[in-house]
Amino acid sequence: MDKDMLTQTTTAAQWFAAIASLVVVCSVSTTRYLLFGPLMSSWDYQTQLSRDLIRYLNKEPSEQPFWMFVNSASHEYWPAIGRFLQWPSTTQHARPFTIPAYPLDDVSLARAGIWASKLANIAHSSVEMHMYAECIFVSSEQAFTTDSHPKPQDKAILYFHGGAYVVGSVEQYRSILTRLSKVSELPVYAFNYRLAPESQYPTQLYDAFCAFRHLRILGYTEQNIVFAGDSAGGNLALALWQLLHVELSAMLLLSPRVDVTSIRPSWKQFYEIDVLDPYDIASPYSSIRKLLLPPGAEPTSDTLDMLEDPFIAPVHANLTGIPTTLVQVGTAEMMLDDVRDFVQQASAQNINDGISSGMSCVQLQTFPDMFHVFQAAPLGTRIQQRAWESIGSFIKSLDNATQHSLHGALPI
Ligand SMILES: *[C@@H]1O[C@H](CO)[C@@H](O)[C@H](O)[C@H]1NC(C)=O
Ligand SMILES: *[C@@H]1O[C@H](CO)[C@@H](O)[C@H](O)[C@H]1NC(C)=O
Repeated sequence: MDKDMLTQTTTAAQWFAAIASLVVVCSVSTTRYLLFGPLMSSWDYQTQLSRDLIRYLNKEPSEQPFWMFVNSASHEYWPAIGRFLQWPSTTQHARPFTIPAYPLDDVSLARAGIWASKLANIAHSSVEMHMYAECIFVSSEQAFTTDSHPKPQDKAILYFHGGAYVVGSVEQYRSILTRLSKVSELPVYAFNYRLAPESQYPTQLYDAFCAFRHLRILGYTEQNIVFAGDSAGGNLALALWQLLHVELSAMLLLSPRVDVTSIRPSWKQFYEIDVLDPYDIASPYSSIRKLLLPPGAEPTSDTLDMLEDPFIAPVHANLTGIPTTLVQVGTAEMMLDDVRDFVQQASAQNINDGISSGMSCVQLQTFPDMFHVFQAAPLGTRIQQRAWESIGSFIKSLDNATQHSLHGALPI
């Protein structure tokens, strides 16, 4: 989408700087590993190197020695290094399509809270939309050779990619989506929702709404759709569920962003270990600022209210009736305590309301010493494999599982 325009401004010198910076990061990481060992004693070399690279790419441009390839207009630095670092991805199982704009119904709009009027305006001005999307399906039986989508009487996963609402795309996520399709044996649909700073919230929520409508129009019933997302994508999945309040098949949330205030102890505790920079609304580089405010605008008291809004911070949401949900998080994540609070509240709300008979419909799986969205990092470790196996058995168990029970999921 608009990101392509930025790429055109990337010069050869910026590319050289990008590659050089990565060589420096790798060398420093390797030297430190050889001299002092890994940061967490359970990490192998590949885990340490992956963590160092991802952390470097997530740093605020102002804190990077190679800030010169930042686009000064948008503070965007990913077109240069993001594309260079794209995980290996193949189009072999991917079928591209586009998603048009769909009208928002009044019932959903009424649930949108403080976003209702903006959401209506965005729907109104998006009529020409052609959102890029892909269906990724790895199946031995159903070779992906025809023009049709997979049989919609079966289940499908709607995936919301992460990237703090400022980066990320279906293309960058293709290998993760492929892996998800492989372990779940389901088609995975993913879409390029519009990003900040070009598009402010709730544009992303509207785009997600259209993706869901599109799956319904393809023939999938609500009960056959699994929402899945990582980080900000998990946030978007939870926001869309709040907007729609439908009875989905399930949700899969990998390190979902459920709060933006960075106040719980794990933010301090794992600040030097995890791969993220904490959110800080005051910084012009902050992703949450780009999401909520047009470029150049100063935060107001309204902005601070938005930080507490249940769509932006689902930890404040009414989670009654949430679908069967598997949440995975690493124990060396800054978001760990946010995610734990969210799971605890979701469980408590649903037990208190008598929907679940003492059995939690939200299950948390924690992975020792793992950082933010480690499932997507190029680790190849046993612990990462275990996370993917759990995802596979969770989704496969849904066939026979009734809503709000999790008999099939593997405890970690
Ligand atoms: C939460 O939502 C449910 C309906 O889904 C409603 O019955 C309940 O009153 C709400 N709880 C609060 C505290 O608003
Ligand atoms: C679901 O049920 C079918 C037949 O009733 C059975 O073959 C299959 O193993 C079950 N799957 C799970 C995950 O329990």
